[in-house]
Amino acid sequence: MFWSFSLVLLLATPALLSPVGDTSLKVVREEFNEFHIPGNLSMTFNPTALLEVTFPEKNAPPVRLHAGIHLPISDVAGPPSFGLLKTLTTPIPGHGPFVVAAVDLDAAPQYGQIRHFLGGDYTPGPVGLDGVAKLTNSTPAVSEFIQPAPPVGDPPHRYVFLLFKQPAGFDSQTAVNATTPVTNFNIASFSQTVGLGEPIGGTFMLVAAAST
Ligand SMILES: *[C@@H]1O[C@H](CO)[C@@H](O)[C@H](O)[C@H]1NC(C)=O
Ligand SMILES: *[C@@H]1O[C@H](CO)[C@@H](O)[C@H](O)[C@H]1NC(C)=O
Repeated sequence: MFWSFSLVLLLATPALLSPVGDTSLKVVREEFNEFHIPGNLSMTFNPTALLEVTFPEKNAPPVRLHAGIHLPISDVAGPPSFGLLKTLTTPIPGHGPFVVAAVDLDAAPQYGQIRHFLGGDYTPGPVGLDGVAKLTNSTPAVSEFIQPAPPVGDPPHRYVFLLFKQPAGFDSQTAVNATTPVTNFNIASFSQTVGLGEPIGGTFMLVAAAST
């Protein structure tokens, strides 16, 4: 009796410490559709994995994204960490490696899509008590995380994180490197060029500047 009570506490504690991210593929897909993200990406989005994106905070617990969360710029300085959530119905999608990309879909037209992150060689660690397998990369990111900076007065920008299965040869791709402009990026054409295919997971946040 006592043992099982302790076990319940043990299992419950990590969930209390970290706010819950996405737990349902169906809800993630619906949120992506509601915010016109697949159409704007020109990509099909039928996720089979739950991507965790977590932002560290200076004087507060980390913020874990769920699809459609509204966050102020100050909460998303990053860099974020990534993970995969295992649930009763959603397994971890294998050992990887995986590619993670993040783009802003709502930059001014002259900037097009802005690349906020692109990194490969992510592999999952063991699944923790909170169901999350942390993703760590064994090579530097192609394009390090850039903090969102939507202009004051803009409606919230959609910052979309996508998870892909990494194709062989990704590490020697020459389409994008650290000095490639982050503006006028196109994740769909990059995906075609390097053979990423469609995303297997993703989430997004809505970020607006503080009004003055
Ligand atoms: C792109 O997103 C906007 C909403 O931000 C939507 O009005 C528009 O229909 C979308 N375009 C496509 C092709 O999905
Ligand atoms: C980055 O890519 C550009 C072409 O897109 C190339 O000219 C440059 O040499 C590359 N830089 C590195 C460090 O590979």
